[in-house]
Amino acid sequence: MRPQIETLRAAVARLPRGLVEHIEGVVAEARRLARLHGVDEERAALAAWGHDIARALSPSELLVEARRLGLAVDPVEEEAPILLHGPVGAAILSRDFAIDDAEVLAATRYHTTGRAGMSTMEKVLFLADKIEAGKMRAEAALATVRQLADRDLDAAILEYLDQHLVEASRRAWPLHPQTVAARNHFLLTNRPKR
Ligand SMILES: [Fe+2]
Ligand SMILES: [Fe+2]
Repeated sequence: MRPQIETLRAAVARLPRGLVEHIEGVVAEARRLARLHGVDEERAALAAWGHDIARALSPSELLVEARRLGLAVDPVEEEAPILLHGPVGAAILSRDFAIDDAEVLAATRYHTTGRAGMSTMEKVLFLADKIEAGKMRAEAALATVRQLADRDLDAAILEYLDQHLVEASRRAWPLHPQTVAARNHFLLTNRPKR
């Protein structure tokens, strides 16, 4: 595991400064949440180091790379290719960094959109990405998400997705189908039984 992290860290160090700071914040937060929720800390850290490996690619590069990798491109991703940096990043981690840990790859793949049926590792990375220190400074509303994340990952993700839904509606952003599926999943599973 260690050599993979070292190779990744060297690649991450060549990314733009702001992105490197974000990734370092996500690593710290992923380690903290992993310890709290019984997820293997080193594997969570590996996912955190790798999750934004494709984040600096331009929208057109992401579309070209997604097609080259044979990924299905949703119309929402066509409209907002930035949504492809998770799936493209997971493929790059597998191809160029020999990472074969299925949970690490899934955590990277779905870190932006979420999905129904996320593993605890996926939930930890999803939330770490949203509540790391840099993003917390930019958005006060995330404080509720952070408080929930310490004790209930599902409730924290649902709170984040609800905030995202309001923002998406206000800005007329389309919702990614996997984000809708994730919210439905957490909404239905968190609802008290009638
Ligand atoms: Fe990302
Ligand atoms: Fe990120």
